[in-house]
Amino acid sequence: MTNLAEKLKLGTQQSHTNAEHTGFMKNFLSGGISKESFCQLLSNLYFVYSELESDLQSHQTDPMISTMYFPELNRKANLEKDLSFYYGEHWPDNITPSPAAQTYVSRLRELSTTEPTLLISHSYTRYMGDLSGGQSLKKIVQSVFNLEEHQGICFYEFDEIPDLNEFKNLYRQKLNELILSEELQAQVVAEANNAFTLNIAMLRDLGEISTPATV
Ligand code: HEM
Repeated sequence: MTNLAEKLKLGTQQSHTNAEHTGFMKNFLSGGISKESFCQLLSNLYFVYSELESDLQSHQTDPMISTMYFPELNRKANLEKDLSFYYGEHWPDNITPSPAAQTYVSRLRELSTTEPTLLISHSYTRYMGDLSGGQSLKKIVQSVFNLEEHQGICFYEFDEIPDLNEFKNLYRQKLNELILSEELQAQVVAEANNAFTLNIAMLRDLGEISTPATV
């Protein structure tokens, strides 16, 4: 057993603080998010998760990825439901990835070909975040946009996971069970920091269309 879960948490603490302090997230937390920027966030995430989930699926029998392969985390189908709710049935014609989202997608694609083990860093950064702070963001979206139960917030809902905290503990346990050299563990932490950087760049893009853009 390693303590990779703890290394990831501690090793990305500063990046997490940086993400929380982006203008976009500060606006979001204070309820100042516009529907336009939220939809843009969902659109970007759609491209990111489509790539991440197809990459993880294609490596699901890889000994490293298989331990961390949890299709119950998949967000793509839920994002499609939300995009259809906000943009209507022609939602695919209404969404484009921002330049930062394209960079993020390219990095995932690159790792899928060259270093698939490091996709674990991206899975950790996104899904553990969705299962944690994402749950507070869900309540904010519901109240700011005055939404009825389950409308427009599918992205934050994990119907196949009955207890989110229990699942996060299982996810951490699986991280610790991975048999990885110290060097590879350090690379996993470094790539998780890169995943935060890619997310922050994406949030900065959005900061420009929400008010005020103080990142
Ligand atoms: C304002 C925005 C955010 C808030 C309020 C927030 C809040 C939190 C909280 C309270 C936890 C701890 C949960 C626990 O230990 O059970 C957490 C964990 C986490 N968050 Fe965030 N978060 C935010 C943004 C983000 C972003 C943008 C990302 C990445 C894209 C992210 C990724 C993570 C990850 C990976 C963890 C798991 C840490 C670990 O236990 O290893 N968060 N977040």
